[in-house]
Amino acid sequence: MATVAGSRLLDHVLSSHQFDRPLLDAVFARARALAAVRDGRLAGRIMATLFYEPSTRTRLSFESAMLRLGGAVIGTEAAREFSSAIKGETLEDTIRMVSAYADIIVLRHDEAGAAARAAAVADVPIVNAGDGPGEHPTQALLDLYTIDSELGHVEGLHVALCGDLRYGRTARSLALLLSLFPNVRLTFVAPDVVQMRPDILALMAARGVPYTVTDSLGDTVHDVDVLYQTRVQKERFEDASEFERARGDTRIDVSVMQRLPEHAIVMHPLPRVDEIDPAVDSDPRAAYFRQARNGVAIRMALLEMLLA
Ligand code: NCD
Repeated sequence: MATVAGSRLLDHVLSSHQFDRPLLDAVFARARALAAVRDGRLAGRIMATLFYEPSTRTRLSFESAMLRLGGAVIGTEAAREFSSAIKGETLEDTIRMVSAYADIIVLRHDEAGAAARAAAVADVPIVNAGDGPGEHPTQALLDLYTIDSELGHVEGLHVALCGDLRYGRTARSLALLLSLFPNVRLTFVAPDVVQMRPDILALMAARGVPYTVTDSLGDTVHDVDVLYQTRVQKERFEDASEFERARGDTRIDVSVMQRLPEHAIVMHPLPRVDEIDPAVDSDPRAAYFRQARNGVAIRMALLEMLLA
């Protein structure tokens, strides 16, 4: 467990709500310090990755982070099919068992609130690696770290969150972190069916964060500092026609890039489907692959703070 002067203990990572400015500063300072480290400071510690939904970056960057710090990794990448869940075991029972085999559990699940349920029964730290349409706090940390590294600060920025804001948990978690910084302005760009949900909008209002809701990139793009694109979360739609309406016209292509300010950056948690034209990749403002790289350092920092 880690303590930071003036802030609460970091005993699990479940939600962006847990982070205040001193804790963010502490995580980012550790991430910068650990980025090039390869040593044995977590030797003898075991991390279990328990993923009930697919993942490339999140799971492998956690595993890479743990291995770089000398720890060991066990896990299952299709926990629904390849764990006792298929026999009807509850998440709670699975977590109780895995708590006996590992010193920390990184959990991805398809239900919002799953990480909190796991933390309620676990004897070891739980890290929420995405809980359905709920949150993805470690992604939000690496996103905020990327914004800070690329642009030098977060205060005063205009950030447009685009795409599927209803089911896209990364945008929800990032909006919460951005709301901690003075003079940040947000624009939520999405078709109505996948606009940001009222809980986050109410929180922005309560924290005095000015925001605009729109379905078009048109009026926004010329004045943003960060254009944060997301994938329509196809797997969360029950109704195919709703999915079609969710696709909207927020695609980022070369013509959008021509209107984006020179200093701005384009981000995406990845995986990308067709919401960013690959022709954009060679533009130096395309920050999404640099963003993905930052995931390892952030996760090294979290593992050290949770375990050391
Ligand atoms: C995202 C996720 O799983 O929420 N990916 C990630 O963790 N980098 C985004 C997505 O699936 O669209």
